[in-house]
Amino acid sequence: MARAGGPGSFVFGEEEKKEVMEVLEGRYLFRYGDENTEGYTHKVIDFENELKKTMGAKYAVATTSGTSSLLASLAALGIGAGDEVIVPGYTFIASISTIILAGAIPVLAEIDESLTIDVTKIESLITPKTKAIVPVHMLGNPCKMDAIMEIAKKHNLLVLEDCCQAVGAEYKGKHCGTYGDIGAFSLNIFKTISTGDGGAVITNNEELYERAFGYHDQGHKPNRMGVEVGNRSFVGMNMRMNELTGAVALAQTRKLDKILSTLRSKKALLKELLSDLPHIKFRTINDEGECATLLTILFDTKELAEKFCEKTGGKPIAYSGWHVYNNMEQVLNKLLPAKTMNINERTYYKHMLPQTDDILDRAVNISVGVVDKGLGSGYGINILSTEEEIREVAKNIREIILSL
Ligand SMILES: Cc1ncc(COP(=O)(O)O)c(C=O)c1O
Repeated sequence: MARAGGPGSFVFGEEEKKEVMEVLEGRYLFRYGDENTEGYTHKVIDFENELKKTMGAKYAVATTSGTSSLLASLAALGIGAGDEVIVPGYTFIASISTIILAGAIPVLAEIDESLTIDVTKIESLITPKTKAIVPVHMLGNPCKMDAIMEIAKKHNLLVLEDCCQAVGAEYKGKHCGTYGDIGAFSLNIFKTISTGDGGAVITNNEELYERAFGYHDQGHKPNRMGVEVGNRSFVGMNMRMNELTGAVALAQTRKLDKILSTLRSKKALLKELLSDLPHIKFRTINDEGECATLLTILFDTKELAEKFCEKTGGKPIAYSGWHVYNNMEQVLNKLLPAKTMNINERTYYKHMLPQTDDILDRAVNISVGVVDKGLGSGYGINILSTEEEIREVAKNIREIILSL
């Protein structure tokens, strides 16, 4: 069976091994320590510094997952009971569930043919309760951050960028995650770079950094060196990354540029080989700084998309599980863990976003770097594919489309 996962996981090698072995040999796996701590290798701190440098952000907090990062970011922004947060209906469920877990109310927005939030539809969703927008850089494609920031400024809204699927993506020369107030990353197995599970928060705002850091570690101030009694800013969680994960994260972050340039050139070839076909177009790419982890084909009709998928063994994106609001039964049925998470003021129902439904019914993901059946991208190429293999896959796709 073909290997699944994101591009980072395909290129694990000596670099990750070396960093991990240093931690194991030190036999000290906790993120905090100082020069007097025997065996301490400060991989998590090194990862945070490397990530800041790579993204051009002032502050970074390593976490246990993208979900943790979103929750810590919402807490940093002070989003809670009764606040409305605008989020697209096409995203992984965590972008929506973390808003609910923060006690706030997700307001679902349409996407456009970039498969990211439709910026022309945001303002009609704003009410006096709206506190923030969560643009999701879906499938590695940056959202139209200039338009989003303009709307946010006009209406005095906070912006949390969900960069979980877009580690390294750039929009107009700046990294995703540095446009809004705060950005959340995932390092799970299907992401651009991976530690199996892991994540990070970035921001340029010191206060937000301290709050995100505090939330991720029981309210502690950044970078305590060991057990610290008192001096906690507020009630928090334990979302701390450990040194083994930090070691892999560090090695992977150093590979990010190479991963992205490789994906971009492989995707360009695949796209070129398919560019003259009838019945299809490609989704709109908002900036060439996208991650190029996937090639998304938009068929003229839902029927054509379904027929194509029958031949590849995949599914149109509309059926790709918890990435589409229609399939999020926990949200639609308001299955909440506690009364404090009250979303009764809003109704959520299948097909409430007709534009999103129409696009996703016709959309099919071909893997370039992210091989993930859950995303509908079980078929395609991967970061290690040779030119010959890419040509072979393109030939196959061509034959199927021409036979539809
Ligand atoms: C857009 C988006 N947001 C959030 C997450 C959550 O990340 P994690 O799985 O690391 O918790 C994911 C992961 O699939 C995602 O794709």
